[in-house]
Amino acid sequence: MAILIDGKKTAAEIKEELKKEIQSLISEGKQVPGLVTILVGENPASQSYVTSKSKSCIEIGMLSKVERLSESVREAELLKLIEQYNKDESYHGILVQLPLPAHISEQKVIEAIDPKKDVDGFHPINVGNLLIGNKTLYPCTPYGIVELLKRYNIPTTGKHVVVVGRSNIVGKPVANLLVQKKEGANAIVTICHSAEKDLSKYILTADILIAAMGKANFITAEMVREGTVVIDVGINRVQDKNTAKGYRIVGDVDFENVEKKASYITPVPGGVGPMTIAMLLKNTFQAYQNYPTGK
Ligand code: GUN
Repeated sequence: MAILIDGKKTAAEIKEELKKEIQSLISEGKQVPGLVTILVGENPASQSYVTSKSKSCIEIGMLSKVERLSESVREAELLKLIEQYNKDESYHGILVQLPLPAHISEQKVIEAIDPKKDVDGFHPINVGNLLIGNKTLYPCTPYGIVELLKRYNIPTTGKHVVVVGRSNIVGKPVANLLVQKKEGANAIVTICHSAEKDLSKYILTADILIAAMGKANFITAEMVREGTVVIDVGINRVQDKNTAKGYRIVGDVDFENVEKKASYITPVPGGVGPMTIAMLLKNTFQAYQNYPTGK
């Protein structure tokens, strides 16, 4: 039976560490880090993520603001708001919740954010810095995965990491983080995706599997080798009439059966999800420390 990787507990520890740092800033009469989150439209999942992000900021003593814009907002208006926060010295991090409505270019929006305030690590400058191994603001979910492996003392050097999924938010950046010649990385990394019909061919060779394709319970026990470390990034809503909300959240991994073969496994919920928020706070703190003025 696998050891459970408790992302909720680890995220709480990281938040506690940051809270202490912020308390000492306050006791020195210094400015605190600030995060502005911009939400366009009323996507229920996005609303819930933004609420959790803002609540977590406040819990640890950071300044938090949520800008809610209507689904029909013009792209130019959103870009203008980003420009306003690029200049605002009270906010060190800017996060625009994705996805955006189809009439707004996500790439244009990402590129409008000052790379120094890009706490999502999505700006091409930050992506480039990650690729070449420079210290930068890393995308939160990949950063959270690396942090979990580190805090659970799971070795990565020379290990075969198989990433399933090639998104810009998880698959590509986590592969690039883990391949770096650094402590807590230095892995042999394979990225595989939907163009391969027989994914188990790769997954069965993994020491560490990172499932990030967004397909409920896709990874079954037959696809996983005995002793694999399984990191489940999926957050999928599946219908469940027995719950008050009418749905429940499951990962990309068939947890019940895979946990019998894995050496370590992250649950959903309570695995990678809470780490994403913890690392967002860490990035905001980092952006604050890097910020040249206003402290
Ligand atoms: N939508 C889903 N995940 C993310 C994320 O990490 N950042 C942003 N901005 N939007 C998201």
